[in-house]
Amino acid sequence: MTKQEISIGERVFRIYLDESQIQARIRELAAEIQEQYTHTELAIVSVLNGAFMFTADLLRKLDIPCNLNFIRVSSYSGTETTGKVKTVMGLGDNLSGKHILLIEDIVDTGITLQELIQQLQAEQPASIRVCALLVKPEKHQAPVNVHYAGFVIPDAFVVGYGLDLDGQGRNLPHIYQLKS
Ligand code: XMP
Ligand code: MG
Repeated sequence: MTKQEISIGERVFRIYLDESQIQARIRELAAEIQEQYTHTELAIVSVLNGAFMFTADLLRKLDIPCNLNFIRVSSYSGTETTGKVKTVMGLGDNLSGKHILLIEDIVDTGITLQELIQQLQAEQPASIRVCALLVKPEKHQAPVNVHYAGFVIPDAFVVGYGLDLDGQGRNLPHIYQLKS
């Protein structure tokens, strides 16, 4: 049974997107991506830690040749962005001339995405597209172009399915929203 409410520390969260809704939307995203990359090998770049679960589920549904790199950045402290993006772990493969699909858990202010795209452009890829499970348009501060967006959500902190509050909650199969 899906828990309707969870607590992390003193904060209470209520169910927002359950596992079946998430998986159904990922199937649609995979179909869309697959249709558009039939003749090109994809270089997936997944942003750790948040996108690990989404990446694993999306890639299992993608029936096209692709390879996978992880990049690790950090900008959050608690439920607030610090506005500064720190690259903690960089890329492994040479992405020059490759078609990159950047996979994010959530695009909030868009600052992380902007910074990542700048870093990836320096690798001189053939193209870069972005796939994000969640997008919070109310919070965007930087220009944001998400080609494949899972769910457009309001400005409330979410955890679960890879997303965390200070390291907790990533293992939840569902996404929960902070109760105000
Ligand atoms: P920006 O603001 O740069 O942030 O677009 C992107 C990164 O911030 C994290 N983030 C969240 N993490 N619940 C989370 O668990 C949220 O509601 C949330 N909003 C932003 C996330 O790591 C994302 O990659
Ligand atoms: Mg993240």
